[in-house]
This record gives sequence, C-alpha cells and structure tokens, in this order.
Amino acid sequence: FALQADTFHAPVKGQFAFHPDFLLLINIDGDIAATYTSDHPHYADVRQTLVAQDKLKVLEKGQYLMPGLVDLHCHAPQWPQAGKGLDLPLYDWLQNYTFPLENRYQDLAFAAPIYQDVTRTLLANGTTSAVYFASIDRAATELLAQQCMDLGQRAYVGKINMDNTEQCPPYYCEQNITAALDDTDAFIHNVLAIKGNENRLVQPVITPRFVPSCTPDMLNQLGKRVQQYDLHMQTHCSESDWARDYAKQHYGKTDVQIYADAGLLNHKSVLAHSIFLTEEDVSMIKAYRAGIGHCPLSNMFFANAAMQTRELLDSGVQIGLGSDIAGAPSPSIFRAAFDAVSHSRVREEGVDVRLSAGQRGTANARISFVEAFWMATAGGASVLDANTGILETGRHFDAIVIEANTTIGNLRIWPEFDTPRDILEKIICLAQKENVKRVWVQGKDVLR
Ligand code: GUN
Ligand code: FE
Repeated sequence: FALQADTFHAPVKGQFAFHPDFLLLINIDGDIAATYTSDHPHYADVRQTLVAQDKLKVLEKGQYLMPGLVDLHCHAPQWPQAGKGLDLPLYDWLQNYTFPLENRYQDLAFAAPIYQDVTRTLLANGTTSAVYFASIDRAATELLAQQCMDLGQRAYVGKINMDNTEQCPPYYCEQNITAALDDTDAFIHNVLAIKGNENRLVQPVITPRFVPSCTPDMLNQLGKRVQQYDLHMQTHCSESDWARDYAKQHYGKTDVQIYADAGLLNHKSVLAHSIFLTEEDVSMIKAYRAGIGHCPLSNMFFANAAMQTRELLDSGVQIGLGSDIAGAPSPSIFRAAFDAVSHSRVREEGVDVRLSAGQRGTANARISFVEAFWMATAGGASVLDANTGILETGRHFDAIVIEANTTIGNLRIWPEFDTPRDILEKIICLAQKENVKRVWVQGKDVLR
C-alpha cells in the first residue's frame, strides 16, 4: 500500500525533517520501498499511478505521520505498580513492592491479563518497539513474548536473572545457577522458535537485573551467551549512589567495567539509566557501541540526580529513551521525551535558587525537543541496532499517526500560526493515547 501524509522524522540527531504530503510506498514485507517528497520530479506521476491502482491512502489534514516510538526500558510485570511507592528509595521500593509483585508471575493466570494490558497500552501510546524486563519466571516470560508476537509489537523480551542470595529475598531468587542458566537457554530457544517469528519480530534478551542482584559467576555465564549467540543484553547500569557504591565495594570497579569484563557488552546492549558514568565508562560504552536507555523521571526519583544528557548526546554515545515502568508512572514515550527536556533544564539552571547565577548548574546543559524526539525514535532504534526509527527507503515501516485536528485530548494546533517545529513540540508536550490514531509495525496495522 501507499500513504500520503504530512510527515515528521529525525534522521539526523538534533534536526527534524517535515515533509508535507510525503508519499511512502510500503512493500508486501512491510518495508519502505520508496519515498517521494512533494517537490520530487516524479511525485505527480507516481501519485497518479497509485491513485489509479487504488493503493493510496491519503491522511487527513491535521494528522501527522511519524516513526513509531521506541521504549528501551519497561518492566512489564510492574505495570500494576505504576504510580505507587515512589516516595521510597530504590532498595526499599524493590524489597517492599517490586519483588513481591514480580514473584506472583509464576501464576500464569495472574500474568496473562496484565501482560495483555501492558503490551496493548504501550502500543496504544505509539510504542512500536519495546524492550521488556519480565520476571525470573520462564513460562510467564515466554507468555509475554508470545503476546507481543500475537499483537504484532516489535519486542525485545528478557527473562530476569538474579541469583545473589545476599541481595535477593529467598522467595525471589534463583538458588541454583545451573538450573537458572538452563532456563535462560530454553527461553532463548523458545522465543526464537515462536511460530511466525522467522524474521525475529520478538527477540530474546539476556537480562541480568543489575550488579547487586547477580553473582560474578552469573554475570560471566550470561556474558558467554551474549557472545556465543550475539544476543541483545539489557540491565540497570549505575543508576543510584547505592548501586554505584555496591559495585565499588564488591568489585572495585564501575558497573560498566563489570559488565564489559563479563562479556556482556556488544553493539546492541541497553544500559538503563547510566547516570553516574566516568569518562572511561563513556569511552568504553562507545568502544563496544553499546547504548543507553535514558529514563529521566525515574532517575529523579531513585537517584535524586540528573543524567548528563547534553554531554552524552555530544559524545556520540548511542542513546534512546525508556519509560522505566514502574520506576516512573507513564507508559508514554512522548512523556519520557518531555521529561528528558525538563530534566536537562533543571541541571542547567540548578535547583537551588539561593545560589547566584553562574554557581547554580552547568551552562548549556539543556537539550532540545528535537533532540528528545530523535532519542524517542532514531536514537532508540540505533541502540537496538534495529532498521526502524526513520521513515526512509529500506527501513521497516514502524510508524504512527498523531491526530491533532479534533477536540480529543489536550493537543490543539493552529495551522495558520503553528510552524512545523511548533507542531512537533506540541505533540511531544501534549499528545496522549487518544491522539494516537494509527499504529503500524512492519507494515501491519496493529492498533486494535
Ligand atoms: N534496579 C534493579 N531493579 C530495578 C527495577 O526493577 N527498577 C528500577 N528502576 N531499578 C532497578
Ligand atoms: Fe528499571
């Protein structure tokens, strides 16, 4: 099929492109076969042919096509916990809320409706690619992977590994490392064997929860699997003073060094948070071409700290956004993009207004809405090494339509005086689930 749509995307970090009446041809495999801007010399001919063949869908004015959003860090089983317990520090939050909840997923009857709801909710919010932490339970995590497949969401799904009996509660801890690794191997195999998953719409992810929850042996064994099978890996990295100090005390290293030495880093690893990084850490992440999942709001709650987003963007490290359900309450990556901008502004101006100007914070720490949009789309896709995130020939057609010409939600646009940049900024600030009218993954209409 083919689409004609007012289109936004951000092929280059720091810039956006707006193509009015952009033509996109989608092939039978769901990839973008060709695109034409309205000033292209063949535009009129191509358009006429598509109309004659009855293949062209023309989006209404006030509807905007853009790449689907990428969520690099979402804890699917924590969905019932979204919006509660955030007054607690990370350690207490995990022990009191998270571990008891995640432990319930051994019960598939408990898991099924929640996993249904969280995957649908993310899709309905425009998230076409999601990187999920599940629980330690293999069967429930396979169920999550199957549901993503059934729904048509591009998903990266991890069965959590956590076996450090000193840090994990006895009821939610893998007591036998051999059995845990057998489970992980079976999980990888079973996800790749899901019927219809030949093109790997759903991928297994090696998922050590974070340094404190794993024994060194577990980290090394998981690293071997990352290397051997060239798998994605996700974990929490340097997310709080407590986690950073734990690594220093127990290993004499930073989280990044620990993960690198265990063989866990490669060109498609997702390091969630990563806020207390040293310069060597950043160089190492770049050398491995690993990526960062920036979760701005949960950093503020659990680390009382802000990421050096400006510096990391400038360093060229791969970076995208995560919702961190339920370390932050919103399933929307537009919200994460908005929070990433606010987060950077707090650093710039400093939070303590009693200090005088020049002492308050870091000059030029702000990031722009356009940079946040890039992280939400092309940046996130680059972290995953995925051929998505930009609406150009040869990429998979993962895209959404934002509708702004009605009275739904809070998004209002006045085309006479809102420029394309204004419209994009308004979408990031104001778009809600109600404004997400269409969602395609791999060319397939998946919004139901
Ligand atoms: N660190 C270890 N586990 C978790 C988790 O579930 N959520 C967050 N935000 N941080 C973690
Ligand atoms: Fe997390």
